[in-house]
Amino acid sequence: MNNRQLFLRHVAQTSDAPLALEITHAAGMYMYQANGKRLLDLIAGISVCNMGHCHPAVVKAIQEQAATYMHLLVYGELVQSPQVAYAYTLTQHLPATLNSVYFTNSGAEATEGAMKLAKRYTGRPEIIGFENAYHGSTQGALSLIGEESMRAAYRPLLPETRHIRQNNMDDLLQITARTAAVMLETVMGEAGVRKPDAAWLQALRARCTETGALLIFDENQCGLGRTGTLWAFEQYGIVPDIVTLGKALGGGMPLGAFVADREVMWVLTHNPVLGHITTFGGHPVSCAAGLAGFEALLSSGVIGEVAQKERLFHHLLRHPRIKTVRSAGLMMAVQLDDFPANKKVIDYCIEKGMLTDWFLFAADCLRIAPPLIISEAEVKTACALILEALDTL
Ligand SMILES: Cc1ncc(COP(=O)(O)O)c(C=O)c1O
Repeated sequence: MNNRQLFLRHVAQTSDAPLALEITHAAGMYMYQANGKRLLDLIAGISVCNMGHCHPAVVKAIQEQAATYMHLLVYGELVQSPQVAYAYTLTQHLPATLNSVYFTNSGAEATEGAMKLAKRYTGRPEIIGFENAYHGSTQGALSLIGEESMRAAYRPLLPETRHIRQNNMDDLLQITARTAAVMLETVMGEAGVRKPDAAWLQALRARCTETGALLIFDENQCGLGRTGTLWAFEQYGIVPDIVTLGKALGGGMPLGAFVADREVMWVLTHNPVLGHITTFGGHPVSCAAGLAGFEALLSSGVIGEVAQKERLFHHLLRHPRIKTVRSAGLMMAVQLDDFPANKKVIDYCIEKGMLTDWFLFAADCLRIAPPLIISEAEVKTACALILEALDTL
């Protein structure tokens, strides 16, 4: 059996139609396939590889840390310099009240940790999420997913979870003194890139403050420079009580985090002690990789180029089959007629050497979320290929 057949037989599958492309190696903007063809990566592993694949500084940090020490003991007991250095650096680039970092293995675990923290800190039972939101696939996170077709088969889920609508002022009244937290993606990703109105987001912040509910922003997809500022919430002039991170946080290695004020986070230390536990969270190799990636992101200046590249995509993506292009920096959704049309475009692009896909809750939208290092020439190549694919519809 070849590798592809072994993959289909022995690696647990998540759908009956995986892409199943065999990748031998990746570098910068490209993945290289076993069949000799290369793929321009237009989705960065779903908003992960912000600095491209195998950034030299990240690879070096991984090699050095792997040779120094890997796992030592469960999270939180030992002073591990990669964790300390990354937590310190992150907090220097976050608002003053987001000063304590709990590292996890993934985005979903960051969601779980944030939900637990909010319940514990407020002593309240209810958590409010949003229609079409995505925060991960574990049971707590699933309870907050705003799409019943994904939740239904896994009931019972967490009680006292409910969903309201982004940009709906009336729904804010559902946030009450029972509410421990309201969690939303600052910019909704899987909904097909949906930005909040600034006035609505400010009203949400005010309602949370008024009722004593904690406001949790999920910046898994939209954080770390993707929208043109380091954190998407910076563009709205408000600060959440907790922020969850993942995806690009580990520079390509598995790493998530929930970040809050030290005083809030302190509740996880007592009654009961070890309020949140992880063996591998904040793995030293992941933290070393993440810090190297974060420093490269800041020193490269790519965040400052996001808006210009976003404009170039908008300028070039004009075609009668495109209904609209929604974007928040280099987080973009190209809306087509329907899923079959979108799938045809995606398959055409893959065949011609470019990887893209659709969104979980917006199957009619083509995803554009490339590594932020994408050059203007590569933006032009990508757009030309999308237009060529649209001409075949
Ligand atoms: C906004 C958002 N939050 C959380 C997650 C969950 O992250 P993970 O897959 O690392 O658990 C995702 C993953 O796609 C996401 O897009």
